[in-house]
Amino acid sequence: MKGVAFSRRRFLQVGAILAAGFPAARTRAEETESGGGTLRIAHLCDPQFGFADADPDRTRYKKDLACFEREMAKVNELKPDIALIAGDMTHISGDVTLDWPRLLKGFTMPVAVTPGNHDLGNTVTEENLNRYLGVFGYDYKRFEVKGWRLLVGNSQLWYKSDNPVIQKRKAEYDQWVKDELAAASSLNGRVILATHIPPFDNGIGEKDSYNNYPQATRRARMEAYLAAGVRFYLSGHLHRMSMRGWRDLTILNGEATSVNFDERPHGFRMFEIAPDLTYSWSFIPV
Ligand SMILES: [Fe+2]
Repeated sequence: MKGVAFSRRRFLQVGAILAAGFPAARTRAEETESGGGTLRIAHLCDPQFGFADADPDRTRYKKDLACFEREMAKVNELKPDIALIAGDMTHISGDVTLDWPRLLKGFTMPVAVTPGNHDLGNTVTEENLNRYLGVFGYDYKRFEVKGWRLLVGNSQLWYKSDNPVIQKRKAEYDQWVKDELAAASSLNGRVILATHIPPFDNGIGEKDSYNNYPQATRRARMEAYLAAGVRFYLSGHLHRMSMRGWRDLTILNGEATSVNFDERPHGFRMFEIAPDLTYSWSFIPV
């Protein structure tokens, strides 16, 4: 059994090395011509402090927090243009006020966040949403970085809610997505989307599950992304390394600092995209 476990881990490590890709060699002339040069995003997944924590001493919370603080120090050392935290800030939504206000001030570059199901609930509640907004200030937002546009969204709003306040917010959010995609179509592919939950786990036609967009609107949303020229999608939620693609859209899902179901080590991904859309996605252990 030991040999089997080692082989599987080794397989995953090799897969991660392959997934890291190879940065394209670029000239200064190419970078100047395109405006901002290579964009570097630190892609952080599921800090989820207190993952399945049943210990009254919060041992698990403290361990996950310490791991994230090591991650933050490493991100600051590597100086990306922006850090993206792809949701599930804490395992229990109410814990988000404990450390996140302090942690957000610890990054030395802009930070973008997307809310996860553990932040807002599998069915979003007003209480969870208001608490999250109180800490982070938004649940969807546009960022402009080095000539690129990063749209971070709230995938939780796409799941059914009977609450009229949440339904209204969903309608506003859907309109925002539509408007942003229309505006993004002039950017020649320099657009990156990010939400907690990826569009799909294994294939676009898969049935509804815990790990995908609702099937009823999934394909239409993906078509709209492609029509707007979007080529990259960064997500969290899976707690495992995953690279997927659908036509010209690449969907990347990195390692967490809480629990990784694929036994990958704790860490994050440095996503680097050149103006010609060649990219690398390198694992950084913490
Ligand atoms: Fe999670």
